[in-house]
Amino acid sequence: MALTLLGLSGALTHDPSAALYRDGRLVAAAEEERFVRDKHAKNRMPYEAAKFCLDFAGIRPAEVDAVAIPFAPISLLGPARWHYARRYWYAPDRALDAILTGNRRFHRYRRRIEWCLQQLGFDLRKTEIVPVEHHLAHAASAYHCAGFQEKTAILGIDGKGEYATTFFGYGENGRIHRIKEFYDPDSLGGLYGALTEYLGFEMLDGEYKVMGMAPYGDPGRYDFSRLARFENGELKVNTQYANVIGFRRYKEEGKGYYFSPKLVEWLGPKRAGDVADDPYIHYAASMQKLFEDLSLQMLDHYLGDILRETGRLAFSGGGALNVKLNQKIIARPDVRELFVQPASGDAGTAVGAAAYVSVQRGVAVEKMEHVYLGPAYSNEDVIAACARHPAIRWPGSRAGWSSDRARSVAGRSLAARALPVSPTGSTRRSSFANAGARSVRACSIPSRRRCSAARIRHRS
Ligand SMILES: [Fe+2]
Repeated sequence: MALTLLGLSGALTHDPSAALYRDGRLVAAAEEERFVRDKHAKNRMPYEAAKFCLDFAGIRPAEVDAVAIPFAPISLLGPARWHYARRYWYAPDRALDAILTGNRRFHRYRRRIEWCLQQLGFDLRKTEIVPVEHHLAHAASAYHCAGFQEKTAILGIDGKGEYATTFFGYGENGRIHRIKEFYDPDSLGGLYGALTEYLGFEMLDGEYKVMGMAPYGDPGRYDFSRLARFENGELKVNTQYANVIGFRRYKEEGKGYYFSPKLVEWLGPKRAGDVADDPYIHYAASMQKLFEDLSLQMLDHYLGDILRETGRLAFSGGGALNVKLNQKIIARPDVRELFVQPASGDAGTAVGAAAYVSVQRGVAVEKMEHVYLGPAYSNEDVIAACARHPAIRWPGSRAGWSSDRARSVAGRSLAARALPVSPTGSTRRSSFANAGARSVRACSIPSRRRCSAARIRHRS
C-alpha cells in the first residue's frame, strides 16, 4: 500500500522538526534549528525542515496522504485535565482553564501548523491532519523504530506533553498499549528542568550540563528526597519546591522560574556565573541520583514483569537523553536489549507521530538504523563553507570532513561532519562562535558511513 506521511513537531514551542515516511521507510528527517541556525528554534514552525524533506524526496504537497502532528486534544472524560486542576488548585485560573478550555493550546498549535502547511503549498481543504498524543508519538519513535519483533516494554520520561509527563506501556505485534501515565505537575523531567534553572542553566537545554556536573559532587551530602517520591504506584512532585506556576514561582529580575522561593530558602541563592563549585555540584549530584532512583523504581513497578519476560525496552522522551540513567537501565539484569530513540527530545516526535500513523494505516515502519537523514554536503560544499569564514585560518593544515546526509536528526554532537583542529590557542572557541559555522563543526563524532573528506589548505 502506497502511503506518504509527513510528521511535523513544534507544538511545545521548541525543537520543531519534520519527518517524511514513504511506504514505511523514513526517507528524510530534519530539525528546523539546523536550517535557521537558532538553537531549539523556539516559537518557530518546521517550515524549512518540512521543505527539505519534501524536496529531498521529490514529493509535492498534493502527494502527501496525511500530516501527523505529535499533539492532540485531551478528553475531559479522562484523568489528565482533572489531575492538573486538582494539583494546581493554588492557581485557580490555570486549574479552571484546564477543565473549561483544556485544549486551547492544541487549537492554537493546529492553526500554526495549518499556516505552515499553507506556506509550503498545501491545500488545506485536501490535507488531512492527524493528531497523535504527545507521549504516544514519543513511544512510537522508540518502539516502532527499535525493530524489536518480540513484546517490548516502552518507557517515556518527559517534561510534559499535553498533560502527560510519563508513559509506561508495551508494544506487541506492532501495536502500542498504554499501561499508565502520570500528569503535570508530577513530572520527573520537569523537576530536573526546574533544578537545571536553579543551577543557572536554561531549562530544555542545560539538563545535560547538570548531568555533567553531577559526577563532581557527592550525592550523599544533601538529601533531595523531599522533592519527589514514588509510592503506591504514583509519582508525586513536591510543588512547594518545584514544578510550580503562578505566585509560587521564584522571580529574579522580572523572570519567573519553575522552582519556588522555598527552594531558595532551603538550598541558598540560585547559582550564578560559570563556576561548578560547592554546594552546587552536590545539588547536581543529588538531583541526578533522585532522577535515577525514581526512574528505576517506576520502571520496575510498571514494566518489571515485561522486562523479566522479554528483556526488551524502548525508551524515549527528554529523560531518555540522560545517558547516566541509560547506563543504569542497561546494567539491570532483566534488560537484555535497550533501544533509546536518538532524537528523544521533541524533535523526534515528528518521526514518532508519522510512524504511529503509518502503522495505524497498515504500513509497518522500518527499523531506524541511523540518524543521518538531513541534507548532504559535497567536498565542494565543505571547502566553500570553510572559505566563507575567515576565522578558519589557523597555522597548520586542516581537514574538513562531512558524510553524506550530514545533518542528523538527533543530538548536535552526533552530526556527521567535523573540522578537526588543534584545541590550543586563545581564539579557537570565539573564532568558531563568530563563524557560526554549524556546517563545519569542531569535535563532532565521525560516522562509519561513507564520507567525503576535503583537505583544506592553510591560508595565512
Ligand atoms: Fe516531549
